[in-house]
Amino acid sequence: MTGIQIDTITAASRKRKVHIETWGCQMNIADSERMLALLEANNYELSRDGAETADLILLNTCHIREKARHKVLSRLGALNELKAKNPDLRIAVAGCVAQADGKKLIEQAPQIDVLIGPGKIDELPGLLRENMATGQSVVATGFDRHARDENDVGREAVSDDPVLHIPSVSGKPEVTRFVNIIQGCNNFCTFCVVPFTRGREISRAKDEILREVEYMVRNGAREITLLGQNVNSYGLDLMGRDDVPEDGGPFVDLLSSVAQLKGLERLRFTTSNPHDFTRPLARLFASQPKMGRHIHLPVQSGSNTVLDRMRRKVTVEQYLERINWLREEVPAIAISTDLIVGFPGETEEEFEDTLRLMSAVRFAFIFAFKYSSRRGTAAARFAGQISESVKVERLNRLNAIQDVITAEMVANEVGRTKDVLFIYESRKYPGIWVGRTKEYRSVRVNSSANLLGMTLPVRLTSGNKVAMLGELVN
Ligand code: SAH
Ligand code: SF4
Ligand code: F3S
Repeated sequence: MTGIQIDTITAASRKRKVHIETWGCQMNIADSERMLALLEANNYELSRDGAETADLILLNTCHIREKARHKVLSRLGALNELKAKNPDLRIAVAGCVAQADGKKLIEQAPQIDVLIGPGKIDELPGLLRENMATGQSVVATGFDRHARDENDVGREAVSDDPVLHIPSVSGKPEVTRFVNIIQGCNNFCTFCVVPFTRGREISRAKDEILREVEYMVRNGAREITLLGQNVNSYGLDLMGRDDVPEDGGPFVDLLSSVAQLKGLERLRFTTSNPHDFTRPLARLFASQPKMGRHIHLPVQSGSNTVLDRMRRKVTVEQYLERINWLREEVPAIAISTDLIVGFPGETEEEFEDTLRLMSAVRFAFIFAFKYSSRRGTAAARFAGQISESVKVERLNRLNAIQDVITAEMVANEVGRTKDVLFIYESRKYPGIWVGRTKEYRSVRVNSSANLLGMTLPVRLTSGNKVAMLGELVN
């Protein structure tokens, strides 16, 4: 680990301004915040007026679907103009596109000064210094440790991280914050780039996580979401095992400890893979009052044959069993999911199995995606790639079904009173406060008082799939 180094060349001069743009999942938000922490320790501060006046523009990129990648490339094209106006401007590209494309991306976009993969984040200040000293583009990708060494197995990892005071990337103290607990993924679902762009699973030490959460709560956070591509397998690498112990193992233990922290109101986690979702984890939702009453449990498809080709390791029946565990513990728990339509070879019958699963489970909300072929993944080479028009048609049908379910659920909420944690005031409409119920439904309330960070009872008066409107009780 590089640690924090003060940039001696500029320490005496004005602070450099960094502008950060983040695409992709919450893990990228957490990574952007960590990069900001490293930069702040090296004489940078967040640019208050965006890219125009920045000395450094950092793009933290996503590679999950082709569309996400395109957005990054077109943004890079637009930044060329800024660079032409200001030759001292530095452009850094981080995240999953940086890892996936490496040097090739610099050949396509020579305006990039620093290219840095998710496994090399701590090297950012050093890479910037190198680029400034040499004027040459610098590249750092790959992963140093794909697994902890043998000596680490069987004992708790010791914190070796000096960067625990993580600012929010918005530059403001935020009520809701993300904390990474595990990097990478070992699952290799056949459609997915993540194991290639994020490497294998490496868990952070528990005491390090607790200290980071404590710092955030001291600085105004009331809700914490623990993050990983596969949070349920937190700590298995430290124990040297592949399956979660009967008692729920290190993840349940971690959640129980984080929930003890004073000042924390709500605890969430994402993403939870149904594969290693355990009954003790379901029980925690009932036994631990700080747990949100929502879980994101991606299923991807309602067809066992498709799930098998996706290498998801769980059947539809096993997925439904996990939903039952959760609903036995907390009948009103909100369950959301990810679905992919048009996976290679998906027949009409297999697609309809997904529609049937949706009707059976009744998800609170879904993220539905058209399958996007990713170079290097197994499914990209599968026969039976589905045409764009069929994917669009299936996506529309699926979203139409969910819209009906969501509308029914929203109507059912009207008239109820729910505890809402207020997370921000609308910038466009001052006096409108936006918060969330424990079930992760967004709620808007009109109030002249400052509600930031408060949890208050709200009577829900109307709503749509985006948000509900409500009135403060009292
Ligand atoms: N680790 C999480 C998923 C992370 S990726 C899990 O396994 O549950 C987030 C979502 O993006 C996935 O759940 C999947 O629905 C979608 N996704 C990933 N790769 C995709 C691809 N090649 N095409 C379309 N959607 C994809
Ligand atoms: Fe991708 Fe599967 Fe890992 Fe999720 S579990 S990140 S979908 S490989
Ligand atoms: Fe995207 Fe990488 Fe997250 S590909 S979804 S930013 S892990």
